[in-house]
Amino acid sequence: SMPKFVKIVEVGPRDGLQNEKEIVPTSVKVELIKMLVSSGLPVVEATSFVSPKWVPQLADAKDVMSAIQGFGHSRFPVLTPNLKGFEAAMAAGAKEVAVFAAASESFSRSNLNCSIEDSLARYCDVALAAKTHKVPVRGYISCVVGCPMEGAVPPSKVAYVAEELINMGCAEISLGDTIGVGTPGTVIPMLEAVLDVVPIEKLAVHFHDTYGQALSNILLSLQMGISTVDSSISGLGGCPYAKGATGNVATEDVVYMLNGVGVKTNVDLGKLILAGDYISKYLGRPSGSKAGIALSRT
Ligand code: HMG
Ligand code: MG
Repeated sequence: SMPKFVKIVEVGPRDGLQNEKEIVPTSVKVELIKMLVSSGLPVVEATSFVSPKWVPQLADAKDVMSAIQGFGHSRFPVLTPNLKGFEAAMAAGAKEVAVFAAASESFSRSNLNCSIEDSLARYCDVALAAKTHKVPVRGYISCVVGCPMEGAVPPSKVAYVAEELINMGCAEISLGDTIGVGTPGTVIPMLEAVLDVVPIEKLAVHFHDTYGQALSNILLSLQMGISTVDSSISGLGGCPYAKGATGNVATEDVVYMLNGVGVKTNVDLGKLILAGDYISKYLGRPSGSKAGIALSRT
């Protein structure tokens, strides 16, 4: 059975842009977020409060946050890798944050420069500070089915990290197939393991589309009862610390599919297409969304 409503978490301005080599001007990021908000997206992950040495593209996080205050009714969570990032996010007016752990030790070290255990200890501090600010925390887990360095990742590792994140108070867990290698063959056992420790309404799925498997994996996740899906406008993105990883599944493609099966999202596909056209034109490349390309032609 399918959920009646799916909450789409748009990650384009963060996951989508973080990997762009050329610095995108703050004004372009802000205009993109404005267009995404006007399409009706309930959640737009706006930026990250990470080290500007690690992710130079998002060094303007504070300016993006101040420019988007008061844009529509969308929520604008931001990534925070530690207390320093959390405090900067609060000072910039963020009302929601996300922490990001990994199910693979090697990926944790390349993305965060620390072990899984050390990252979880840092996130306990962030979660505690967030609680006193009454700020909800989303917990990402990367490499939920595969790691660029270690290969296949056992579902038990994912369930372990998920349980730790839930126990420290994360309101939502987003399961990331960072390098897009998952198929229903690996995603189903992973979801089953996580569902033993996390209530289904707290789970989100985050599929990169490197191998073209994202929509199939989303459909099966919905059939298993998950109703929060991460996606990126025009399929932008990739993780700077996961070589060869391409973008997230395109938001236009997800909304097109959900419209087709009668699942509500409250997102206006026409307005979404305009946002996709805007950022694709700016970046000077064709959209990574097949639905976006098809609908822009007609
Ligand atoms: P580190 O070098 O080990 O940190 O990096 P450190 O604590 O030793 O500090 C080094 C310098 O960074 C210091 O400055 C700190 O002040 C500064 P210096 O003294 O050299 O001038 N620093 C900061 N500056 C700004 N904001 C901060 C911050 N923290 C320290 N928050 C650290 C550790 C975690 C900071 C670093 O590894 C980092 O920023 N990593 C972020 C990597 C990242 O953003 N990756 C992409 C997002 S995750 C993702 O895409 C996956 C996801 O989409 C799900 C999926 O697809 O799987 C979520
Ligand atoms: Mg990602």
